[in-house]
Amino acid sequence: MSHSEPQAAVGIASIGVQLPPLAMDMSELAQLRGADVNKYRHGLGCDVMALCPEGYGVVDLAVGAAKRALGRWRGDVSDIGLVSVGSESALDMSRPLSAWVASELGLRGNFRSYEVKHACYGGTLALRQAVEWKLANVQPGKAALVIATDVALYAEGDPGEPTQGAGAVAMIVEDGLVASIARASYPYSEPAFDFWRPVGCAFPLVEGPLSLDCYQRATAACYEQLLAGEAEPFARLMAYGAHCFHVPFPKMVKKAVSMLGQAFTLDEGQLTAFFEEKVQPSLAWNKQIGNAYTASLWISVADQLRRLAPGTIMTAFSYGSGFGAELFEITAGPECARGAWARDVESDLASRRLVKASEYTKLRSGERRVTASVPPAAAISA
Ligand code: COA
Repeated sequence: MSHSEPQAAVGIASIGVQLPPLAMDMSELAQLRGADVNKYRHGLGCDVMALCPEGYGVVDLAVGAAKRALGRWRGDVSDIGLVSVGSESALDMSRPLSAWVASELGLRGNFRSYEVKHACYGGTLALRQAVEWKLANVQPGKAALVIATDVALYAEGDPGEPTQGAGAVAMIVEDGLVASIARASYPYSEPAFDFWRPVGCAFPLVEGPLSLDCYQRATAACYEQLLAGEAEPFARLMAYGAHCFHVPFPKMVKKAVSMLGQAFTLDEGQLTAFFEEKVQPSLAWNKQIGNAYTASLWISVADQLRRLAPGTIMTAFSYGSGFGAELFEITAGPECARGAWARDVESDLASRRLVKASEYTKLRSGERRVTASVPPAAAISA
């Protein structure tokens, strides 16, 4: 299971990741909120949260990630037949984020352009739709540019504040040079108000404990489909090269793994081996970035892919509040070991500036003044 021949199937031909230029260590936030830093570091698993400076946001992240993915891709922008942006940080109720991205990249022509919304699941839905569009051969020879981009901010002092973060992952869906995506997938959906942001609200409203419960139930429901009829679920889980999860905060992933332990009656030793060998290694970047909503799972996948031998099969589990989830297999492609995108991430992490609590407070007060997104006059007349 973990090593099969690499296939030239539909999948990700290039990946680009973009992180914002600021970040804050959890010790600063803990001091500001009078909290024990161990709650943030060990209780939630967060070390540093990525932050955007004033005037920098989801479009900058998306465009940066797209430029990196396009720059390494063998194709040409004229070969793009679909531009899709998954996000829960929409700038407008009508104009899709993909239009801002296309404008910045100078894209116009015979392609579909749209935005996908389903909380943190939106990026995965955009990717799955692009894979299915490619498999349907709707525009022969064309590739899709899929971007997951978000800035996660909660009200100051909210329990979610230490889980904030930001980032974007762009993926060009074509052949599986970096990774092929399985046609089969295992979705689960159930309506819930666990996390939502009413129109006009600057920050999300969160039923924290309910959202944890929904995420865990979704994990079990998706894995039960993947492992249906499996006599030895532990062996099957361990046969994968890795298991990546949506990472609202790293401790959530550990809770999801515990849920799998219950669902498949794994003993304590099996659970530890599964988590430490197959799950934990892909959380390293997330701990340094925080929750980038739609991009979080794909940051984890990008981190993991560079460490897999071509042909290795891993899983990706996506969760979005509301709620919807999906699980599917990804096979590392011939170019995954080069991990070209990792150099960008390491460079973004090394060059970003760590802000103090006072600068963070100033940033947050500035952001509240932004209530509407007004198109620049030049963009309207173009
Ligand atoms: N040292 C170490 N651990 C500590 C601690 C300390 N001083 N103080 C508390 N903790 C632990 C708690 O025991 C708990 O661990 P456990 O979950 O393993 O029991 C953990 O830290 C979190 O503490 P808790 O009080 O439960 O968290 P909270 O009420 O402050 O908020 C969330 C946690 C998840 C509800 C909050 O971050 C949130 O609302 N996030 C946004 C929604 C979200 O991300 N949902 C996930 C699914 S999408």
